[in-house]
Amino acid sequence: MQIDPFIAGLPKAELHVHLEGTLEPQMLFDLAARNGVDLPYSTPDEVVAAYDFHDLPSFLTIYYKAMEVLVTEEDFYDLSMAYFSKAAEQNVIYCEPFFDPQAHTARGVSFETVINGIHRAQADARKLGVESNLIMCFLRDFSAESAEEHLTMAKPHLDKLVGVGLDSDEKNNPPVKFEAVFARARSLGLKLTMHCDVNQDNTTQHIRQCLDTIQVDRIDHGINTLDDDSLVADVAARQMGLTICPISNEFVVQDLTEQQIRRFLELGIKATINSDDPAYFRGYMNENYQALVDRAAYTQDEIATLARNAFEIAWSQPAMKAAHLERLDAYLA
Ligand code: HPA
Ligand code: ZN
Repeated sequence: MQIDPFIAGLPKAELHVHLEGTLEPQMLFDLAARNGVDLPYSTPDEVVAAYDFHDLPSFLTIYYKAMEVLVTEEDFYDLSMAYFSKAAEQNVIYCEPFFDPQAHTARGVSFETVINGIHRAQADARKLGVESNLIMCFLRDFSAESAEEHLTMAKPHLDKLVGVGLDSDEKNNPPVKFEAVFARARSLGLKLTMHCDVNQDNTTQHIRQCLDTIQVDRIDHGINTLDDDSLVADVAARQMGLTICPISNEFVVQDLTEQQIRRFLELGIKATINSDDPAYFRGYMNENYQALVDRAAYTQDEIATLARNAFEIAWSQPAMKAAHLERLDAYLA
């Protein structure tokens, strides 16, 4: 894909990227060799050829399986650093990556191994010009008790986290299942977000629960807000940010959602563009923005608004946010 120089040079923020979803096939091979893990593939190309997803569950199966190569603190450092290097290359100057601790503790990898490796990479990424704040996600197909246990594990590390999120399989796992643990996370000073994946069962009820019961600060995906006028009105009135992932949507629901994203812009709703799981969906930030230009002739004004929305709804420290918005304005001037 040819990237327009305006998009390549644009200072960007990424607010919806799963670090485990940045595990590139080559690194999968390297880490498997380092840790003595057997892979059912003989080349990285074969891995990509096996990326056969058409919905959320078929993606998640491949995603969790690959994580088994992540074992040591060094592995989590290397994974995170590879993402931050790619971010730097693409002028992503700020990001809020997610990680899924339960996917690792369930395999006997300690919470400290995971968070310390990521945290060390975040510190080194600053030297590349990439600032970040980390979000811990709970797996919604695990129990609320497990989420509570992991929030307790995170308590000595609160200075390393900006918020909590909720990901994995949404079917039969509504936001209200996690009402208590999200309330506790808020009382610990953490920001709250939850995935409202695209075209899920009971999607409008789930978005309503996020707004009214959980009282999230942001929604991940949230495309189906458009299905219900009262959701549109509330999301707009609250200036609620949505972290949308076009290329991911193309894989998971066979729709780049370029028309819905444009509708959010027309409504003044703070939609943003993100990569979600770039190693799997084969597109980082620039490719996601470029897809909107190629598919739906997004204008430079629309692209700039999407980029500005991300800096505005970010959970960055106030001075950092002001500096990022200034850099964006200088670029656009
Ligand atoms: N949705 C749900 N779970 C996920 C996703 C997603 O977009 N990416 C990684 N885990
Ligand atoms: Zn996601």
